[in-house]
Amino acid sequence: MFITFEGPDGSGKTTQLNGLMPVLEKQGLDVIRTREPGGTEIGDQIRSVIMDMKNKSMTPRAEILLFCASRAQLVEELIRPSLAAGKIILCDRYADSTMAYQGYGHGLDREALGQLLHFATGGLKPDLTLLFDIPSEAGLRRRLSNHEEWNRMDDYALQFHERVRNGYLEMAAAEPDRYVIINADRSKEEIHKEVVLTVMRKLNRS
Ligand SMILES: Nc1ncnc2c1ncn2[C@@H]1O[C@H](COP(=O)(O)OP(=O)(O)OP(=O)(O)O)[C@@H](O)[C@H]1O
Ligand SMILES: [Mg+2]
Repeated sequence: MFITFEGPDGSGKTTQLNGLMPVLEKQGLDVIRTREPGGTEIGDQIRSVIMDMKNKSMTPRAEILLFCASRAQLVEELIRPSLAAGKIILCDRYADSTMAYQGYGHGLDREALGQLLHFATGGLKPDLTLLFDIPSEAGLRRRLSNHEEWNRMDDYALQFHERVRNGYLEMAAAEPDRYVIINADRSKEEIHKEVVLTVMRKLNRS
């Protein structure tokens, strides 16, 4: 079972992944967590290039290819072998993030992007994608209030985040069997309950 956590910046993906992990482990399930970009030694090196404030001049195309390189490594090195071993993989962002940010956010050719993502992942799609949906301003404010480091990826206009959000919602509508939309504009505890319910339901069905 391959489960991805998607949604705009500050929507609570990492918080909820952290909360879900011990619940699944307590059930005796074999769970692995990973994140994008990164998740492998090579991927983490690529991640630091993507996040580096020095790299403000990085073009959207260069950025996409770096994300895809990191993802290709993650799929081959970690995700496919773990799935073959019967594990549950929780992934903090995956291919849909590229489509949302670079496709819908930056307005790049979504059909070409889809082909590139297919190439990078070898066509591997998640069994379940949790979309944490939150109004863009609320999400951005959350991250700042916590004194987290403002990274290059946050340094875009609010309008950009709105396009990203709407892109996610469009993708979710196009693949209703894979996506579950979670209203992320609630307390952490309320969201946690829904996440656990959603994942347990999916696990029991498969
Ligand atoms: N339901 C919530 N209500 C209020 N604050 C929250 C909630 N969920 C998470 N937060 C806080 O909002 C901030 C962002 O949460 P988190 O890092 O989990 O988001 P994220 O989706 O992983 O963001 P990013 O895309 O930047 O990695 C954190 O400070 C977190 O503690
Ligand atoms: Mg996060």
